[in-house]
Amino acid sequence: MRIAMIGTGYVGLVSGACFSDFGHAVICVDKDAGKIEKIERGVMPIYEPGLQELVATNVKAGRLSFTTDLASAVANADAVFIAVGTPSRRGDGHADLSYVFAATREIAAALRKPTVIVTKSTVPVGTGDDVERIVREVAPNAQAWVVSNPEFLREGAAIADFKRPDRIVIGSEDEHASSMMREVYRPLYLNQAPILFTGRRTAELIKYAANAFLATKITFINELADLCEATGADVQDVSRGIGLDNRIGSKFLHAGPGYGGSCFPKDTLALLKTAEDYQSPIRIVEAVVQVNDTRKRAMGRKVIRAMGGDARGKTVAVLGLTFKPNTDDMRDAPSLALIQALKDAGAEVRAYDPEGLEQAKPMLPGVEFADDPYQAAAGADALVIVTEWDEFRALDLKRVASILAAPVLVDLRNIYTPAEVERVGLQYHGVGRGIALEAERQNDAA
Ligand SMILES: NC(=O)c1ccc[n+]([C@@H]2O[C@H](COP(=O)([O-])OP(=O)(O)OC[C@H]3O[C@@H](n4cnc5c(N)ncnc54)[C@H](O)[C@@H]3O)[C@@H](O)[C@H]2O)c1
Repeated sequence: MRIAMIGTGYVGLVSGACFSDFGHAVICVDKDAGKIEKIERGVMPIYEPGLQELVATNVKAGRLSFTTDLASAVANADAVFIAVGTPSRRGDGHADLSYVFAATREIAAALRKPTVIVTKSTVPVGTGDDVERIVREVAPNAQAWVVSNPEFLREGAAIADFKRPDRIVIGSEDEHASSMMREVYRPLYLNQAPILFTGRRTAELIKYAANAFLATKITFINELADLCEATGADVQDVSRGIGLDNRIGSKFLHAGPGYGGSCFPKDTLALLKTAEDYQSPIRIVEAVVQVNDTRKRAMGRKVIRAMGGDARGKTVAVLGLTFKPNTDDMRDAPSLALIQALKDAGAEVRAYDPEGLEQAKPMLPGVEFADDPYQAAAGADALVIVTEWDEFRALDLKRVASILAAPVLVDLRNIYTPAEVERVGLQYHGVGRGIALEAERQNDAA
């Protein structure tokens, strides 16, 4: 099968590379010539474990290529995937569909044979109808079917997720289009990956429902973490205690600084906008969005409290800037709001991230950047772990204690236990660990 992938970002590049690895002939298109030129030189425009090797192997095998020429890629394709961005529209939180519609127009104008047009971008319910209308307007005589195929991969584990998905969702109104999609995913189908065929609108909504549910789970445990702090309980044990219940499950129950990233913040907002438009409110998600927004800055206040209540003139070392480990993606990372709150309170910030520095630097003016965790920590008045990169799980805590100007470790991902931190003479400040709160109280009183 010949596939054209429009948009060569986190989703398009990974999906395109994986489809080619299944044996399809894939051409990835991006309007960003710099990105395409980089990939052709073998340099990945994003950090995703295993991606460089996967791309190189399939380019070498002649199954994967890259171009800025959308028209020729589409003209030869049996299936065209739209994987362009759908960020939040400024002002009202609705998904900005301008990239999807612009790509649709270009695709429609380039159609030369029967083609399935597949929306992989996350788009609000009903967008497939709009895409179909545009195709009919631009190319009234073209034979084209519009299908929804939302993507569920996680950055940092994107290739494994794509190749071994929990499920594949196909929203289609046409039997021929459905059978084409079955062909596209045949290798996974043979591997027993559950493939769910639904109506197009249903498929679009499934993606938002999934992300909103996961964001709710995270926010639930975050609020419980606050209650743990207030009552002397430990959220790590609460999380384990409820997560072992199969009806609940242990995933997405890690208390932390609030969710971020390129999907949950914008997708929860877009779902609320849809709910409003259809006068069918989803109050639980409204609360999730509000709680999460306030949480990120609250983490700044937590750090300031840990430093004795005053940040002015103090230096805070921040470890981890990306919204999660194993990606360089800085979109809506909790570190951004946290660092802003610290700077607003008069602190200097020195930060380190294993892969995110290039993206982070333009977003964090006035922040000093270090080459490693110890350089960040040297002489700082507090060390704050914001993203749980593996590199930070095995810090030499004795060394950290010896180079910090004040013995304060704020572990916003609970990757250390209070005991191992306190053993080296550092004060431990985790999230939702009421057991370690006594130290914080003594600090407040001092
Ligand atoms: N990033 C994730 O983890 C993830 C996971 C699941 C779903 N999604 C969804 O997938 C979509 C893409 O997300 P992303 O993170 O890959 O975005 P991205 O911003 O990394 O990539 C989008 C790419 O599309 C290109 N583009 C835009 N218009 C184009 C056009 N007309 N022709 C050719 N190229 C064009 C841009 O230059 C950019 O390189 C979004 O809807 C997102 O919500 C993302």
